[in-house]
Amino acid sequence: MNQINVPRPNDLDAFWMPFTDNRYFKSHPRLLARAEGMLYWTADGQEVLDGTAGLWCCNAGHGRREITEAIQKQAAVMDFAPTFQLGHPIAFEAAARLAEILPQGLDRVFYTNSGSESADTALKIALAYHKARGQSQRVRLIGRERGYHGVGFGGMSVGGIGGNRKQFGAMLPYVDHLPHTHDIGRNAFTKGLPEHGAELADRLEDLVALHGADTIAAVMVEPMAGSTGVLVPPVGYLKRLREICDKHGILLIFDEVITGFGRLGTNFGAERLGVTPDILTMAKGLTNAAVPMGAVATSDGIYDAIVNGSPDGIELFHGYTYSGHPLAAAASIATLALHKAEDLPGRARAMEPYFEEAAHSLRGLPNVVDIRSIGLVCGIELSSRPGKPAARAVDVFRKCFDDGVLIRTTGDIIALSPPLIAEKQHVDRIFETLSGAIKAAA
Ligand SMILES: Cc1ncc(COP(=O)(O)O)c(C=O)c1O
Repeated sequence: MNQINVPRPNDLDAFWMPFTDNRYFKSHPRLLARAEGMLYWTADGQEVLDGTAGLWCCNAGHGRREITEAIQKQAAVMDFAPTFQLGHPIAFEAAARLAEILPQGLDRVFYTNSGSESADTALKIALAYHKARGQSQRVRLIGRERGYHGVGFGGMSVGGIGGNRKQFGAMLPYVDHLPHTHDIGRNAFTKGLPEHGAELADRLEDLVALHGADTIAAVMVEPMAGSTGVLVPPVGYLKRLREICDKHGILLIFDEVITGFGRLGTNFGAERLGVTPDILTMAKGLTNAAVPMGAVATSDGIYDAIVNGSPDGIELFHGYTYSGHPLAAAASIATLALHKAEDLPGRARAMEPYFEEAAHSLRGLPNVVDIRSIGLVCGIELSSRPGKPAARAVDVFRKCFDDGVLIRTTGDIIALSPPLIAEKQHVDRIFETLSGAIKAAA
C-alpha cells in the first residue's frame, strides 16, 4: 500500500534538530514553550531558570515588551525590502545606533543573519581588503585551536573544533592555527584573566616564518572563547597578537558573537580586554535574539580601501537577501535602546563579584578540576568518566533541567552565562542547583 503523507502536528519526526542527539531527544523530549525575564516554562508548565541566556544571546532577559512592540510595529509598516541597490531607513538607523557603542574606530557595519555568516563575511572582507590594496597573494587565514566561528566553511575551517569539522572532510585550503591558551596546569581556578600564557601569541611569529608574512590575510580569534568551554585570554596575550599583526600587516579579527553586548561587563570584549581589532563580528545579543541578525564592523580604513579601491559598480560582491532585514533592524534598535537605558554592561559589572564568588564556591566539589570566570560567564570543568567523555556533564545538565535550571555543557565543561539582568537570588539558585547536580553525578 502507498504510504500517505499525513501531517501530524505533534509529531517530533520532521524537525531534524541542529547540534542535537536526535535519537535521545525524540525519546526524551524537553520542550520549552514560554519565556519571560529570567525564566522559561516547559510545555507542561515547569519553570526553568535560564542560566545561559538561551544560547548566550538573550542578554536583556526574555520577552522584553519594547523589543516585541518594535517588531510588531515594523511588521505592520513594511515586512521586507531589499538592501541590494535599494535601502530602507530603519537599516541605516540600526547601523548608526550600533556604531555608537562599537569600539572606537570601528564604525562601518555590514549586516548578516547569524554568527556563522558574520565569521565568513569577516574573512571575505579581509581577503577583499588585501586584494583592493594590490596584495592578492595574502590569502592565508589563521585561526586558533578550540576556536568556534560557526558552521560555514570559512568559520569551520578557521575554527579549531574537531567535532565541528571531522564529519565533513576537506576544509578551506590556506588555513593554519595558533595553539589554544587553555592551561589548567598553570592557571586552574582563575578569577578574571589567567596569569600564564601570553607567550603563546608568539606562535604567530612561527606561522609568519613558516608561511611568509605577505601570504597571511588575517588572524581570527574569539577574545574569550565561549563555546569550547570559557577560555579566558591570558594577561597580555591579545595585546601581543595585536602587535604581531601590526608588525606584519595582518588584519586582526575578533569574533565577539558571545562577548559582545555586555557579557564581559563592557559593550564589547575588546573594551574590557584593552585591544581593538580591525574587524569585529557579532550576532546573538544584537537583537536580544528576538529576530536572527548578525553584523560585521570594520574600520573606515578597511571600508575605504575596498569601496574606493574597486572599479565602478558593486564594490564587495557579497550580501544576504536578509542583510538589514526590517524586523531585525527594528529589534536591534529596540535592543540597543534597552542596552543603554538599563546599562546592561554596568549591571553585569556590578554582579560580577557576586557571580564570581558563587562560581568559585563550587571548588572542592567532586570531580571539579577547574573554575574560570570573567564578566557574567563562567566555565566549570569536570573530570571525565573513564572512557566516557562528556557523560558526566550530560548527567549534570539533565539533573539541573529537571530541578528547574538551564545550564549549558560542552564536553565535560559546564558554561554559565545568565541574562545580564540576573539578580542575586537567581545567581544563588543557579549555583545551588548546579552544586546538587554535580554531587549527584559524582
Ligand atoms: C564565537 C562564535 N562565533 C560564531 C558562532 C555561530 O553563531 P550562529 O550559531 O549564530 O551561526 C557562535 C555561536 O555560538 C559563537 O559563539
